Amino acid sequence: MLNKFLDLGKQPIANGFLYKDQIKDEYFFNLGVAFDEDTKLITQTEYVDPPLMFNDEYVYRGSMSQTMREHFKELSGVLWKNDSPMPKILEIGSNDGVFLKHWPTDSTVAVEPCGNFAKETQDMGYTTYAEFWTTKLAEEIKLTNGERDIIFAANCICHIPDLYETFKAVDILLKPNGVFIFEDPSLAEVINNNSYDQIYDEHPHVFSVIALDNLLNRNGLEIVKVKNLSVHGGSNRIYAMKKGVGSIHKSVEQNKSYERVLGLDKMETFIRFAEKVEQSKDDLVRLLRKCKYEGKKVISYGASSKSTTIFNYCGIGPELLSYITDTTPEKQGKLSPGVHIPVIAPEQGFNETVHFAYLGAWNFIKEIKNKEKDFVDGGGKFITHVPTIRVV
Ligand code: TYD
Repeated sequence: MLNKFLDLGKQPIANGFLYKDQIKDEYFFNLGVAFDEDTKLITQTEYVDPPLMFNDEYVYRGSMSQTMREHFKELSGVLWKNDSPMPKILEIGSNDGVFLKHWPTDSTVAVEPCGNFAKETQDMGYTTYAEFWTTKLAEEIKLTNGERDIIFAANCICHIPDLYETFKAVDILLKPNGVFIFEDPSLAEVINNNSYDQIYDEHPHVFSVIALDNLLNRNGLEIVKVKNLSVHGGSNRIYAMKKGVGSIHKSVEQNKSYERVLGLDKMETFIRFAEKVEQSKDDLVRLLRKCKYEGKKVISYGASSKSTTIFNYCGIGPELLSYITDTTPEKQGKLSPGVHIPVIAPEQGFNETVHFAYLGAWNFIKEIKNKEKDFVDGGGKFITHVPTIRVV
């Protein structure tokens, strides 16, 4: 049974950056968040139809941050050592190839429903299926390319509404002793950081290890290891295998018992979380209004999907934030979804005229602070909502 605990209001497609003449056709939906008493999954009350989000105009590039480029390079080094046979890998949601590029083109297969990015990895030499991940596709790939030693997905499985279909498809294509490795933002960290901005159309679920273990178990798989990661504000890398094949590492029970201590298996925890979310909204709006009253120029740094949730839930538009800077060419020159704040390149707008920069990409705070020393030395300050509203 779904128990709704949070209403983030009317929201647009989080990555739906648009031109002025597209405003009249902009799509909105109601973003409600619920706790499933049965599986303990945190999920949305209404799912956006995937093709509305993932299509040939998709703008999110995984390779835009140094942190993520290094993260995938390091992981690739861990998954294959020179003296072992090269594993046959398939990546679900390969985006612009930021992980894929560390693997050989002849044995690696990519699945990417966004046609623009599928073309990029195809051009890099990888067999790329420009389709959504389904049991039908898994059967087709099994026949054409063979079963896989590793099925990998980063920041992708939590994007897929139908987890039963997803896990069944993995079970079809995985070799009997193959490993399904996937990483997504961790619910424990979302609760610890009050990072409610991890919830938007593309993230219909926020995963706890408890919920994932329940869901994988119902689909012939089980978690054999969990690794906590710092990326994306705190993520979990899940290693799963077919049931009964692998030995279960102690990290699985450790993570589940930590989550029980946090109360991630109880509705009360999420009711308290919802109260903190509302407080965060009030505090952020108050701070931005104060800045405006004092004549300070405030912009946003990083046109993240996460900030779409924040700005639309809090009702923050161009009257409070002059513009957003972002390094992604596909976002520049457009307006942010829903509240229509202009997005420009950092070279055009991240300069000495800015007093405060709200961290839309707070998850890259280290990388950004390193990169923007001149801004900080010149007296510029960053604002974040994580874990509470503050100037850093
Ligand atoms: P990310 O947090 O990955 O976004 P999302 O919430 O959509 O998953 O990325 C944030 C955005 O910030 C992305 O569009 C790239 C941009 N960005 C910059 O503009 N400058 C930077 O230095 C970094 C690290 C990211």
